[in-house]
Amino acid sequence: MPFTQCVINETLRVANIISGVFRRTVADVNIKGYTIPKGWKVFASFRAVHLDHDHFKDARTFNPWRWKDNNLGTSCSGNFYTPFGGGPRLCPGYELARVEISVFLHHLVTQFSWVPAEEDKLVFFPTTRTQKRFPINLQRRR
Ligand code: HEM
Repeated sequence: MPFTQCVINETLRVANIISGVFRRTVADVNIKGYTIPKGWKVFASFRAVHLDHDHFKDARTFNPWRWKDNNLGTSCSGNFYTPFGGGPRLCPGYELARVEISVFLHHLVTQFSWVPAEEDKLVFFPTTRTQKRFPINLQRRR
């Protein structure tokens, strides 16, 4: 299901439920001219990187085709794409999560159709979501 993986990648890029991770420094860290003192708490914002135009063209546009020639979906830890974190704390459930989402999407699109019940729009602050939770009218396909 290669295109389903593109849709999942793009959903996790634009609207991941986890927007970043906290870390506490165990020593002074010097990075790009800044010093983060030992003991500080740092928030590494995946969201800021995933929605950065320097890393993703038209970053705020949902475009699953951007992943078509890109194999990040299986490695899950490209330089700028880390929906499941990275390093020693990489999410151990990432493959299970992908399988579950793939099964859900497969049944949704093959067995159901839907139309928007109300007009809604995407907002990006403080997190990516639809303003009215995107109410839909769902119908089972015959
Ligand atoms: C879309 C679904 C999921 C997303 C976006 C996600 C994301 C993440 C992220 C970003 C981390 C790293 C946290 C950190 O570095 O502090 C993490 C850790 C973790 N995830 Fe997931 N996860 C998902 C699904 C799952 C599932 C299905 C399971 C298990 C069945 C799972 C189990 C865990 C566990 C146990 C950790 C902690 C790993 C550690 O601290 O060593 N996750 N997840």
